[in-house]
Amino acid sequence: MRTKIFFLISILLVCGCHESKNKYINWEVYNGTNSGIKYSSLNQVNTTNVTQLEVAWIYKTGDADTIHSSQIQCNPIVVDGILYGVGPAMKLFAIDAQTGKEKWVFDVNARAATLSDTTKFHNIINSRGIAYWTDGKQDSRIFFTAGSYTYAVNAKTGKPIADFGNNGSIDLHDDLGRDVKDMYVSNSSPGMVFKDLIILGTRIDEEPPAAPGHIRAYNAITGKLQWIFHTIPQPGEYGFDSWEDTNAWKHAGAANDWAGFTLDEERGILFVPTGSAVYDFYGGKRKGANLFANCLLALDAASGKRLWHFQFVHHDLWDRDLPSPPVLVRITKNGKQIDAVAQTTKTGMVYVFERETGKPVFEINEVPFDTISELKGEKVWPTQPIPKHPQPFVRQTFTIKDINPYLSSQKQIELKETLKTYRFGKMFLPPGLTPSVLFPGFDGGSEWGGPSYDPETGILYVNANEIPWIIKMNPNKTEIPKHENWLQAGKRLYLMHCAECHATNLQGSGNNPSLIQIKSKYKISEFSALVLNGRRRMPGFKKLQGEEINALATYILELKKEQNRKFKSVTNIDSINEMPYKMAGYTKFYSSDGYPAITPPWGTLNAINLNTGDLIWKKPLGEYEALKLKGIAATGTENYGGSVVTAGGLVFIAASRDAKFRAFDKKTGNILWEYPLPAAGFATPAIYELHGKQYIVIACGGGKLNTTSYDAFVAFTLPNKN
Ligand code: HEC
Repeated sequence: MRTKIFFLISILLVCGCHESKNKYINWEVYNGTNSGIKYSSLNQVNTTNVTQLEVAWIYKTGDADTIHSSQIQCNPIVVDGILYGVGPAMKLFAIDAQTGKEKWVFDVNARAATLSDTTKFHNIINSRGIAYWTDGKQDSRIFFTAGSYTYAVNAKTGKPIADFGNNGSIDLHDDLGRDVKDMYVSNSSPGMVFKDLIILGTRIDEEPPAAPGHIRAYNAITGKLQWIFHTIPQPGEYGFDSWEDTNAWKHAGAANDWAGFTLDEERGILFVPTGSAVYDFYGGKRKGANLFANCLLALDAASGKRLWHFQFVHHDLWDRDLPSPPVLVRITKNGKQIDAVAQTTKTGMVYVFERETGKPVFEINEVPFDTISELKGEKVWPTQPIPKHPQPFVRQTFTIKDINPYLSSQKQIELKETLKTYRFGKMFLPPGLTPSVLFPGFDGGSEWGGPSYDPETGILYVNANEIPWIIKMNPNKTEIPKHENWLQAGKRLYLMHCAECHATNLQGSGNNPSLIQIKSKYKISEFSALVLNGRRRMPGFKKLQGEEINALATYILELKKEQNRKFKSVTNIDSINEMPYKMAGYTKFYSSDGYPAITPPWGTLNAINLNTGDLIWKKPLGEYEALKLKGIAATGTENYGGSVVTAGGLVFIAASRDAKFRAFDKKTGNILWEYPLPAAGFATPAIYELHGKQYIVIACGGGKLNTTSYDAFVAFTLPNKN
């Protein structure tokens, strides 16, 4: 479809009627194009006039939820003058891309309320974007996932298309070849359209029992399954023997693609970045390299057949999911041009492969790492592949020398004392009972925003986090005491299922909220519905049995009357899903006054020349006002969402915690423009042209890193010349 439009535009350009007829330059796909490069050929806004940018319009969705820290991670799409996006409460909307005026809204929650089985629709997560398909004539559709349902919505009316799937949607629980109806299956990134296929990845639970992350292609017109690729191979399939347990294909979970896809349309190659297998941090029950977890898969887009794969982390124990779709690049090496695909990782590295063969463009070596685990039954993989080039874009170790020098000397001493009790200083330290420092942390290195790439110069722009996190494993007491009351059972179940995110003391960790004082916020029935069905990034716990949910409510909502009721246990949990160890929580290594333990920068924007593999510049991304007032140079902040590079010589990026939208000079990395957004823009901008004007739009949803939630899409353009 897109090729046709491109062809049309080319004809218009050739016939010299560019100005009058070529009304639209679209942003038709998540991240701009199927190649994932986040590049805009527009140059009306450029290094000489970027400071004149002004707000063209603001569209407010009206449904930010400040109490529950709602977010918007959406990179909207723009097709022929209409912008489609998703707000914080998962309302899909269409607006006029010139004025921001609303055309229609599709509210899945409102729709759910009119249906009988409302529980189905509660488990709604964030949407990073949507996909657009058209037959080039009358039929145009938006594919949009909320909860476990992928909808085909009429792009003109906002109404689900009744003859697609089951009354307008398909349930991602179906067609996986296993009964996963009580498990969490959703999708935060959009599917990829290839001809008349809509190809879908999934978001899956991080702990067992979890659904397998198989990749599926559906007919975009009917919603019928067309092909499936087993990311956990079945008997007879390539990779089956990378699992020591020959039954793994029946019960192992995840190895899913939550990050989205890249498509080489001409060659018909689909690139699929996958995440780790479940359980993330203990692999004693999934021994082996675990293909196709942590892989870049090249699949034949038409049939789903594997062309090649590369595994970035063998037997992952660190949740090193591939965080974003790779980018299609063209590299000049020894005078030869190579069509390649580049993947950035949470470890802060770039891996580059020839697109058709998967052959590394720069040398990649299997490097030995520590193999001794404190955890019984673990079998750590002895080596991991590390590229010699390009050079990493974040620091690779954290030691005592790297303690943040801007902290008070007392705080520095505290951190040094703490660090002495940890294992640190190396990558891939096996998780154990003694805490270990994971650096770069769980959120990268590179994150879901992914890099942008300039095809004119061969330069890759990647924003990164440089924050140490802590991994600590605890023995998982799975034995159920004979005599327990609801309070005791509630505490035990909390430690087993919830503490990993909400911390052992209920205080919350990482981006997971505190549950202290939650009793004033939830009725028992609301609490139960939330825990069973999940909400946004909170997984559902349909696996809870009998009185378990009541026991949890008794503990967390501090129900006094129920405390002493005798707990009747029903255990029919499959033992393969019982882990002997659980991670204690997603904890960042911060000082007690709220700053990273490591010396800055904490967030950066990096430019890497992919022809040479050299890092050509590295700049802090974002600031802390309090530190700036003390005269400390920009430190960068943690950041989420990607950049867009333009033919106008600019790299546009929000992403930072300080809620600024910035334009960097793509050559020098100097900041040319900075604009205070109404809330942090943890999303990737979209850039398009309409009626001769260039627009740059960014979602401002806040909600991460303790910033206020908001509900706006803000578009910028140059003032009209009069
Ligand atoms: C994988 C991480 C994770 C796990 C495991 C998890 N939660 Fe959550 N929880 C979250 C996140 C993230 C949110 C915020 C949800 C949102 O954005 O709406 C949340 C929200 C909540 C809330 C609402 C908090 C509020 O302020 O409104 C409750 C209650 C809750 N969780 C209870 C539980 C219980 C009980 C368990 C265990 C059975 C559990 N959670 C397990 C991540 C998790």
